[in-house]
Amino acid sequence: MQNKFETLESKIEEAKKGGGEKRIESQHAKGKLTARERIHFLLDDGSFEEIGMLVTHRSTNFGLDKTKFLGDGVVTGYGTISGRLVYVFAQDFTVLGGSLAEAHAEKICKIMDMAMKNGAPVIGLNDSGGARIQEGVVSLGGYADIFYKNTQASGVIPQLSAIMGPCAGGAVYSPALTDFIMMVENTSYMFVTGPNVVKTVTHEEVSSEDLGGASAHSTKSGVTHLTYANEIECINGIKTLLSYMPQNCEEEALMLPYEAGNEKRENLNTIVPASANQPYDIKEVIEGTVDADSFYEIHKDFAENIVVGFARLAGRSIGIVANQPAFLAGVLDIKSSQKGARFVRFCDAFNIPLLVFEDVPGFLPGTDQEWNAIITNGAKLLYAFSEATVPRITVITRKAYGGAYDVMNSKHIGADLNYAWPSAEIAVMGAKGAAEIIFKNEIKEASNPDAKWQEKEAEYAEMFANPYNAAARGYVDEVIKPEQTREKLIKAFKMLENKVDTLPKKKHGNIPL
Ligand code: HXC
Repeated sequence: MQNKFETLESKIEEAKKGGGEKRIESQHAKGKLTARERIHFLLDDGSFEEIGMLVTHRSTNFGLDKTKFLGDGVVTGYGTISGRLVYVFAQDFTVLGGSLAEAHAEKICKIMDMAMKNGAPVIGLNDSGGARIQEGVVSLGGYADIFYKNTQASGVIPQLSAIMGPCAGGAVYSPALTDFIMMVENTSYMFVTGPNVVKTVTHEEVSSEDLGGASAHSTKSGVTHLTYANEIECINGIKTLLSYMPQNCEEEALMLPYEAGNEKRENLNTIVPASANQPYDIKEVIEGTVDADSFYEIHKDFAENIVVGFARLAGRSIGIVANQPAFLAGVLDIKSSQKGARFVRFCDAFNIPLLVFEDVPGFLPGTDQEWNAIITNGAKLLYAFSEATVPRITVITRKAYGGAYDVMNSKHIGADLNYAWPSAEIAVMGAKGAAEIIFKNEIKEASNPDAKWQEKEAEYAEMFANPYNAAARGYVDEVIKPEQTREKLIKAFKMLENKVDTLPKKKHGNIPL
């Protein structure tokens, strides 16, 4: 028996070495951790249970029969984060460049199946040279098996993808099918075709970092939701993000203990400037309303005219969508609509109530927007709010103009409650533009057209640059002082916590894509 135990021990030791000392050193020299080190930092101490440590590939192509590694380039298993079950796979770049083929893919699929059956999140730590070239089409099949499972799992369990090295070619589509992508600055990149192919096809010269690094994807493409300075920060980010989520679509996020106190927030009274054209930072409103230090922003550097993120209100996890008057006046455009819609759908899929702060002058005009389909893209946000059945509350802080009023979680599209601050202006458009259109002839014929315009502008503003018309119709449930916002929201979300709302029976809706 002793021999048999020794065989087992030596196999475990061999598996834990991955691609060997030299390759581990080279991984460290690049500022990267190994797959096992990443798992160690991610999971609660001693909680990791590995599955499939002894799996090897079956290929004999191009000398692969002589380069078999136990585990086949991916460490998979389960463990806990803050005591909650998660499944994890970490690609091991020290083994055949973390390349993916049949056995490697089977291991990932196996834990995804378990995660689905047991209702817990899957975390993928990606660091791979892509499809294992020697294994040919079985590598592509392996990817497709994962894509299929990502899609099946979408909306059932949270799926998080951290990119901690290369992620190229079709490999990018697994992270893209998951809920959140996070990247590490300077050591990770994602692209469908790398710089060499780009140069051949389009004659553009671009580095990997510029083409598909963390900065490119957090600011330009919006592919990544979060970026971090190093791997440890990224791993901590995964933990933080998970803390706002339930384990699966049948559960609710953890409610943190909260001791009620004085919920009046007088500092909110002075944030909105007296002049409607002056910007202010909506993040001050968010942070002044939610539990201290609880706001965790998502997609921070992309489409900054809308702010989205998780927060807590009296311990309850909520999702926030807010127009940002400090950036492009908070206008809705293609990117901000996409960003908002994606976030709303995540929250709705996982029972996270939604809070909207609204200060929006409308949709961005122009050929660029029209020709790139602001109609279809704006409809995404409208659709996402309209189909959301979670508790939904809007606070109109200032402008709620035009179609954007309807889109930003209005009562008409199913919001449970709409509050407005006394500074709210709920109208088809701003008073100046409105006066110019409806009093065109009067202004033209006046002895002093400018004075007439101003007079008519004031008349329109008097009628609509306030929340009271909307309140008179019940479109706004209550006009509140800013300082009351937190208290009102805490009570309202509590009142809504057992909300049941269902969509009409259907196979699935057809969100404008
Ligand atoms: C097999 C691979 C591999 C791959 C890397 N390796 N990528 N083995 N298949 N795809 C191996 C290398 O041979 C090397 O083995 C080890 O991993 C480390 O690679 P290096 O090149 O030494 O590392 P580095 O200099 O850091 O460069 C990393 C890299 C480069 C940029 C990722 O390896 C690379 O360009 N690889 C090929 C990428 C690629 O074209 N993949 C296919 C993409 S298409 P040794 O034994 O020396 O340690 C794709 C389609 C998916 O993925 C489709 C899904 C639908």
